[in-house]
Amino acid sequence: MKEPQYRGVNELRRMFLEFFESKGHLAMKSFSLVPHNDNSLLLINSGMAPLKPYFTGQEIPPRKRVTTCQKCIRTGDIENIGKTARHGTFFEMLGNWSLGDYFKQKSISMSFEFLTNYLQIPAERLAVTVFEGDELVPPDVEAEVIWKNIGLTSDQIYRYGREDNWWGPAGQTGPCGPDTEIFYDMGKSKCGPKCGPSCHCGKYVEIWNNVFMQYNKEADGTFTELKQKNVDTGMGLERVLTILNGKNNVYD
Ligand code: SER
Repeated sequence: MKEPQYRGVNELRRMFLEFFESKGHLAMKSFSLVPHNDNSLLLINSGMAPLKPYFTGQEIPPRKRVTTCQKCIRTGDIENIGKTARHGTFFEMLGNWSLGDYFKQKSISMSFEFLTNYLQIPAERLAVTVFEGDELVPPDVEAEVIWKNIGLTSDQIYRYGREDNWWGPAGQTGPCGPDTEIFYDMGKSKCGPKCGPSCHCGKYVEIWNNVFMQYNKEADGTFTELKQKNVDTGMGLERVLTILNGKNNVYD
């Protein structure tokens, strides 16, 4: 990145929504923080939470491509607040969704284009993670190949398991799938050459998650391919601003 150029929340929010509108997405307003017809959540915790009826087929989406900037509170993160440089009580999640439209190739290439062309974040400061596979689901080779074709080197790509690179309702049935997470390398590491994106020392800050809803978890614990595959992404507005403004933590 050249000299850090000050950017504010309104500017980044607008840039993101306009970028995805230019790619055929419908920009929708943030939904309320209080979930509507969803007893599983106290407060909205991600961009995808208010869109669940579109994923489950309960409601027809207004368009197959949607983008939002969603107000979020992640109650699960409360213990981290004040201890890390990247967690806040309240945050906004920028996201783009494909509801049965594009899949991995387009999703990853749009994320890369936005970060490196629009925000001018140097590609060499990025690291990504992909699902390494396990006894139930094969590795996400497709995502890894897409990242390589885009130009990331092998040492920028990390393979992790279900703990890190899987998104879906824990222990429940329903749509789920592997994800690929994009991290910004802050440069300094307290823990030596073994440090990677799964380390919490602060060197790698997760900025964007691309979830590929590819499977349905069945009642017997097996995973079957979904006919309609979806993409669910979430980017941290405050975290990206921290980086763009050359700061070390979201509070600054
Ligand atoms: N649902 C995923 C997340 O919250 C991607 O939006 O990280």
